[in-house]
Amino acid sequence: MLAYRHLFHAGNFADVFKHALLTRLLIALNAKDKPYCYLDTHAGIGRYDLAHEWAWKTREFENGIVRLWDRKDIPAGLAPYMDAVRSENPKGRLRFYPGSPLIALKLRRPGDRIVLTELGKTDCAELEAVAGGKRNVSVHLMDGYQALKAFLPPAERRGLVLLDSSFDRAREFARIAAALKQAHARWPTGIYAIWYPLMEPPAMRGFLHGVTATRARKILKLEFTVASGQATTMGGCGMLVVNPPWRFENDVKVMLDWLWRALSPGGEGGASIEWLVPE
Ligand SMILES: C[S@@+](CC[C@H](N)C(=O)[O-])C[C@H]1O[C@@H](n2cnc3c(N)ncnc32)[C@H](O)[C@@H]1O
Repeated sequence: MLAYRHLFHAGNFADVFKHALLTRLLIALNAKDKPYCYLDTHAGIGRYDLAHEWAWKTREFENGIVRLWDRKDIPAGLAPYMDAVRSENPKGRLRFYPGSPLIALKLRRPGDRIVLTELGKTDCAELEAVAGGKRNVSVHLMDGYQALKAFLPPAERRGLVLLDSSFDRAREFARIAAALKQAHARWPTGIYAIWYPLMEPPAMRGFLHGVTATRARKILKLEFTVASGQATTMGGCGMLVVNPPWRFENDVKVMLDWLWRALSPGGEGGASIEWLVPE
């Protein structure tokens, strides 16, 4: 049984960072007429009730989505993300936070396909209730790393894989680098978005070395820090995007700078974008 439950963290600064980038990636895919496939390997439960006692235990959403909710100066790049969150809360009071599957469902076009995999039995049942039974959407109780073998390359030959591990097992960084290597060999032109927590420097160096050693090219590294990480809380996180859409780094720069100022009122940390591996 998996110990990790994302409800303790839903809507925190890391979710805002991840989901804001996810919306930009999906919008870029929507710019072309051709259908795509979105594979979410660690899909979670789809919708998070911030009034639930688990969310209240940590109240991480207070340093995340709550800081944006009443802002009247949301930059244009962030508006689709905020629209996705607002559409879950039509009465105007923040209560429900959409996970990555719901964000993809809101942004995809009718011909685009969504494949969701989740290894937690209870979580997968909740996900099925939220996202299942819809046209061109499939939900699978399955290991996300197996999903990369089972579903790639997609028939559409274009699309995005979100690899959003819960990092609740040892050696997850190595597992992700190995999974990217295999997936990239099966489907070199796909877009891969890989979320990760910032940990101690040797672990980060090992991870980035492992990713570089896959020999995949065009890997953009986006990092976001709001506090100095302590043993119990994560201070920052990042996302690697393999094969980002054209000009993605320019597209998200203003949005990330604005987000960092909004989510780090004390001015700790920062937002950075750089090529880990250029073209
Ligand atoms: C960070 S949460 C996912 C959040 C979701 N992607 C979102 O943005 O809304 C990670 C999820 O991965 C699930 N999980 C853990 N190990 C997994 C594995 N090997 N394959 C698939 N899912 C896994 C956990 O149960 C958890 O729901």
